[in-house]
Amino acid sequence: MNFKNAIVRTPGKNFSQGLTSANLGEPDYQKTLEQHTAYCRALQQCGLNLTTLDPDLEYPDSTFVEDTAVLIPSAAILTRPGAASRIGEVAAIHLQLQRFYRQFYSITSPGSLEGGDICQAGSHFFIGLSDRTNEEGARQLAEFLAKEGYTSSTVDIRNIRDILHLKSGIAYLGDNTLVVIKSLNDHPAFKGYKTILMDPEENYAANCVMINGRVLLAKGYPKFKAKLEALGFTTIPLDVSEFQKMDGGLSCLSLRF
Ligand code: GLY
Repeated sequence: MNFKNAIVRTPGKNFSQGLTSANLGEPDYQKTLEQHTAYCRALQQCGLNLTTLDPDLEYPDSTFVEDTAVLIPSAAILTRPGAASRIGEVAAIHLQLQRFYRQFYSITSPGSLEGGDICQAGSHFFIGLSDRTNEEGARQLAEFLAKEGYTSSTVDIRNIRDILHLKSGIAYLGDNTLVVIKSLNDHPAFKGYKTILMDPEENYAANCVMINGRVLLAKGYPKFKAKLEALGFTTIPLDVSEFQKMDGGLSCLSLRF
């Protein structure tokens, strides 16, 4: 799957006031900005045209734009984040997406859904059921996707420790290949896929993204990087330590389409 565009939002000064359960200390704002700039450069290196939004101080988590929409070539599906403090982030992204999309769907109450729980694998979508995405949100998304010609299946992660979203534990790298953490490896939804299994101490790096033939992955996870390179993937390691402190990963920082 090839992408042309990405939307990102520069983190605000109050980024550290967002939601987190990470217990890794407070992010350093200057370092956060530097890491975000390097991330944006990597997206450009992958050939993407960036729309960079200004910080939105009303929503400290709003740099994690991925949670606000699910994008396919024919339509944009606006989410309804399960975190109440994040629901208002969607309106601004809707405005931006109107420049690129004509067909919109919206997840509506009592459904909740965050983009971090949605993993596209070609014409199929895995929808994570989590503390942020409920069954009604998953049902609505599955219906919208079916209308647009895609299949989907749910993956319940509510009993899996240490992952906020489904994509904290899996990534699709194309060619029927999934990166998977050990606790999700035997899930029936992933049967028939080739899997790259994470070493548990490197689980954080499972949240990687394939963009136009390159894999962006978190820096500091040598076993995973070596595994990917041995399989012939071109990697771009990026330091995202400050985002990790706020329960964020590489994929959450952009909407790619
Ligand atoms: N801090 C990201 C989130 O909890 O949604």
